Amino acid sequence: MRASTSEQATAGFDRTEPWWRGAVGYEIYVRSFADSTGDGVGDLAGITGRLDYLSWLGVDALWLTPFYPSPGHDHGYDVSDYCAVSSRHGTLHDFDVLVSEAHRRGLRVMVDIVPNHTSIEHEWFARARRDQGGPDRDRYLWADPTPDGGPPNNWLSHFGGPAWTLDEASGQYWCHLFLPEQPDLNWRNPTVRDDFDSILEWWMDRGVDGFRVDVAHGLVKDTQLRDNPQIAPVVPGMDPFDAFNAFEHRHDMDQSENVEIFRRWNQVCAPRQAMLLGEVNAPWPNRMARYVGAGALDQAFFLQSAFLGWDPETLLTMVRVMHDAAPHGISWVLSNHDRSRPVTRLGGGEAGVRRSLAVSTLFMALGGTPFLFQGEELALADGVLRDYHDPVSVRNDGATSGRDGCRTPMPWDSSAQNGFSAGDPWIDSEPRLPEQTVAGQQADPDAPVHRYRSLLDVRRQHPDMWRAPLEWIETANPQVAALRRGTIAVVANLSERRTSVRLGSPGWEPAFTSQQGSRFDTPAHDTVSVPPETTIVLTRE
Ligand code: NOJ
Repeated sequence: MRASTSEQATAGFDRTEPWWRGAVGYEIYVRSFADSTGDGVGDLAGITGRLDYLSWLGVDALWLTPFYPSPGHDHGYDVSDYCAVSSRHGTLHDFDVLVSEAHRRGLRVMVDIVPNHTSIEHEWFARARRDQGGPDRDRYLWADPTPDGGPPNNWLSHFGGPAWTLDEASGQYWCHLFLPEQPDLNWRNPTVRDDFDSILEWWMDRGVDGFRVDVAHGLVKDTQLRDNPQIAPVVPGMDPFDAFNAFEHRHDMDQSENVEIFRRWNQVCAPRQAMLLGEVNAPWPNRMARYVGAGALDQAFFLQSAFLGWDPETLLTMVRVMHDAAPHGISWVLSNHDRSRPVTRLGGGEAGVRRSLAVSTLFMALGGTPFLFQGEELALADGVLRDYHDPVSVRNDGATSGRDGCRTPMPWDSSAQNGFSAGDPWIDSEPRLPEQTVAGQQADPDAPVHRYRSLLDVRRQHPDMWRAPLEWIETANPQVAALRRGTIAVVANLSERRTSVRLGSPGWEPAFTSQQGSRFDTPAHDTVSVPPETTIVLTRE
């Protein structure tokens, strides 16, 4: 194994506690961030060229979505080689440069690992299919048809249709919780486990600081492949996600053995201080908490907030329950590359902007590692599209609008293609207004990017915001959350009315408010009055 570039490059980092404690992450959807070659697809060198912006913004860690060789059926989440870079996104040399340039600026780099499934073009699957008696066959999940020739059970794909496709040559079906071109690995097979240990090592040797684990809840499947209980009707033409949710996923997802795998990964990653951050979609907070219990994943994303529209009471209830189940184990996110952007989802226009920042401000005080999705700091709304690009929409004849709206290119400036690419972008890219671009916002001190930057700065200046023990302050209104942690108090008033909250002690001074210029009464006494849909952070000596 070659010498770790990370050891040299991270020599200046403070290693007294895990680097992700107190950090703020930033998700880069590689295809749409910055294109350095003019082929219309974002690449690694493009990211390197924008690191100064990310340092200026004040984030601490970058999560790069898959940039591995892939036929691209699911835009990179169908990996055909886990230890290489797709020529579409650059070279391994570009990756090494990106890591060392990021480290030089104090930025950590996390890569996306996709262990639930490979690409149909991965050599493991090609061999498994070709040689039915060979050692690779059992790397995947195969099952015989039912007596009438149908799929082995009632499991559905997230992306529409059954989770099984018939392999004509062998007469058996293969399992895929996503597209047929994404065959699921068999995580009961020790070879699969060994291979992923080596993949993690390989990237750590190249200097990565952690892994975002795709579909962490999906790896192990029921040994008997039993049917899932159906809880709602499925009708033709239904949105595939709704059809998927018409079943209780008792046997295909969230099996207890998943946690064992992450305990094993933790043994591989912890000695190298590499973070394991899971995409965990478990139905209950106590189930989520199991994944981030001692010795398994370091954190799991809180994804429910990315699924919700504007529903403050539900949001705050979920946040509180989830926080209390795993106080430092949750990565708080309002969006990612799979969901409509928060400004759009939470009401659009001024209201969407106001509400997004109010929720993000609360998330910065909840203890785990929050992540922003590229463009969130610009308060971008979903892009406008002429065509579908997301396979989920293309394959379901538009029964779902899919995930394209949040995947349009990052608007850097007002040049052609908003500075994303000198060529034609892979996805529709409507021109953004100057005030929606990075350059336009950097020039305007009142623009959202400066609000997010100040918020990150306040979090950095006041480590109590994520480190001190959290105490909830009871409020009379379920649309208002308030907390105290050490020298910090936070009041998130997500209701439509100005609200007063008693902080329990006097002497608080405002450090940040999600609405610039908003008036709140400073509590010389112990009560703060907060405007509607606003979150305020207060400090005291
Ligand atoms: C979750 C990823 O975020 C999504 O983009 C992808 O389609 C699925 N996992 C399948 O890998």
